[in-house]
Amino acid sequence: MASILESESRLRRIVDSQGQQHVFRFWDQLGTPQREQLLSELDSLDFEEVSRLIQQHIKGNESGHGVSHPEPSPYIRLPQTEEERHRHQEAWEQGVEAVRQGRVAAFLVAGGQGTRLGYDGPKGCFPIGPLSNKTLFQLFAEKILATCRRYGAVVPWYIMTSRDNDEISRRFFEEHDYFGLPRENVLFFRQGMMPAVDQDGLLLMDSPHSLALTPDGHGGAIRALKRSGALDDMARRGVAYISHFQVDNVLVQPIDPVFIGFHVQTGSQMSSRMVKKRSPDERVGNFCLVDGRLHVIEYSDMRPELAERRRPDGSLYFEAGNVAIHIYDVDFVSQLNQRGYELPFHRAWKKVPFVNDLSHRIRPRQPNANKFEMFVFDALPAARRTMILEGARESIFSPVKNARGEDSVETAQHDMTAEVVRWLRAAAVKTPVDSNGEPTVKLEVSPLFALDETGFVEQARQRSLTAVTADTYFE
Ligand code: UTP
Repeated sequence: MASILESESRLRRIVDSQGQQHVFRFWDQLGTPQREQLLSELDSLDFEEVSRLIQQHIKGNESGHGVSHPEPSPYIRLPQTEEERHRHQEAWEQGVEAVRQGRVAAFLVAGGQGTRLGYDGPKGCFPIGPLSNKTLFQLFAEKILATCRRYGAVVPWYIMTSRDNDEISRRFFEEHDYFGLPRENVLFFRQGMMPAVDQDGLLLMDSPHSLALTPDGHGGAIRALKRSGALDDMARRGVAYISHFQVDNVLVQPIDPVFIGFHVQTGSQMSSRMVKKRSPDERVGNFCLVDGRLHVIEYSDMRPELAERRRPDGSLYFEAGNVAIHIYDVDFVSQLNQRGYELPFHRAWKKVPFVNDLSHRIRPRQPNANKFEMFVFDALPAARRTMILEGARESIFSPVKNARGEDSVETAQHDMTAEVVRWLRAAAVKTPVDSNGEPTVKLEVSPLFALDETGFVEQARQRSLTAVTADTYFE
């Protein structure tokens, strides 16, 4: 009891000095376990950091991002010449070698809240397979399993969750027997949380005895990899390269040998994939060079006159869009942590449930809170060397962000099907299509049937496949 009293008075002093004393306003109504929870949450906050962020983003005027003179960043383009095809082939071989040697880990960032999708549960549990209904988690698990089988490799898979979806994500894997992966090679860890604050910089409460905390962004991975012990685990396993991907991208290959090969070959510490932007205002970040360092400038921070600038041939001057697929060295993440390198926090104005003064829990319909998030691409400027590799959008990027419309379940399933149609065409298998080239039957390929076009063509040949005439799930 004495220790509760002690921490209460210590923490009261701290919150008083920060003008956040309202967090104790329900104290008299709380039982002991609830008081302990509130004290422990307050204790885990870095008040100095929080107060700096409030000062910088809410009370002060947000200064610019220091990116006033960006230039387009160079990148390795899709192969167009014989020589480029040869270089890609070499990179593939080098990548496969690194995978076979166990030097590559898959890393899924799955700690986000997925509010735009509005699905009740971790986004990874969302059923996405157009015919199979398989979930995003299963899709990625099978891609990793198929990679391991194809190259005779062990690929450990690290999954970053957050406080709110950790338990249910782990249970989901447990209930599905890790989708056939050896369970010792599927490793979960949690990212950090940040307090949400209102328009005046006051901490919001989620209940009378807890703060409204939100995950600290996918950039929280850089800290969490270290703090959770995942980085040490990787080092013990001999992993040197971390292949980072997001839970919503249905087309991503968690392990892409060509990308890995170029990363290794160029001696890059952090590499990213890009696709050509569809339009100046497409909602993806822009790869830019600023003072010789690679940065991603978010679409919302890019001045319109820069975003719209074109080359004489009509193409966009800033054409390289970020699709959130990266590779970084284990050593690089270690160094960042040793150096105490801080990724900057970005502020987002979002809807966050809270309790009001009458201790009623409110689910706001309009944004009411500032969230603070780090973005993993902000580590790029700290890398000694970087590399960007172009990808064909239709082969690497189709995110499920919204329930309907742009970047939705519908567009993702459409893009998954379109990929199968391309593979069928490559295998010279007749497919019924309408006048727009859209298939008139439903199609899906399990990653365990084929991981990519080459694999599919091979399977089709072995099975003497010549035509599809009805809904077909290749499994
Ligand atoms: P998004 O930027 O789409 O954010 O995340 P979100 O929170 O999942 O979704 P909305 O904005 O609420 O609709 C892109 C990727 O980064 C991960 C997500 O899980 C997704 O894979 N992420 C995001 C984290 O791992 N942690 C975070 O704090 C935020």
